[in-house]
Amino acid sequence: GLQLVLAALGSALLGSIPFSLLIARFAGGIDLRKVGSGNVGATNVARTLGWKWGTLALLCDAAKGVVPVLLFPALMTTASPGLDNERVLCGVCAILGHMFPPWLGFKGGKGVATALGVVTVLAPAGTGIACLAFIVTFALSRIVSLSSIVAALSYAIAEVVLHGSDLWGPQTWGLGAFAIAIPLLIIYRHRTNIVRLWHGQEPRLQLKKKTGE
Ligand code: G3P
Repeated sequence: GLQLVLAALGSALLGSIPFSLLIARFAGGIDLRKVGSGNVGATNVARTLGWKWGTLALLCDAAKGVVPVLLFPALMTTASPGLDNERVLCGVCAILGHMFPPWLGFKGGKGVATALGVVTVLAPAGTGIACLAFIVTFALSRIVSLSSIVAALSYAIAEVVLHGSDLWGPQTWGLGAFAIAIPLLIIYRHRTNIVRLWHGQEPRLQLKKKTGE
């Protein structure tokens, strides 16, 4: 009903706040779309302004996933018992808001940080496995995009292995659909990274050092 529509819109609105872009603008006077990878994400903030601002961007972009998933379904009086499908809807809308913000001509980020926030609430076990996959891949490669792609794939596989047919029940089918569709969408958002990876041209993460260091 109306509550669901409002929850979806509110989530998309929160998701569309381009925290990484705003942080880069106010902390460094930089237009994130014109430096580094050009992506409006935490990685590109770290690349251009250092790990502290990058971490802040990661936390803010992840909060855009956590807050709507926790907040809006809890406010609904018409939600289903486990709130699972309502939470999935809010999470998807937050991620889509981040990826396609109207204020930036629908050209937003790749969804990794915001999805991290969403899945931390929705599926902590799968999130833990995805984070581990990210850390191992990054330790070996120092390439964030590759680590994000491996983490997204790991999340989908972990969810299917951990929950199996439980993911497709009447109350939980949203979790199953989410576990497949969102990783695929995140990987698709990395298509320019994938082309560079394929040609061996994707740079390893170089953090901006403070001047004088
Ligand atoms: O969060 C996006 C990350 O996976 C890649 O970012 O800036 O290297 O394209 P970037």
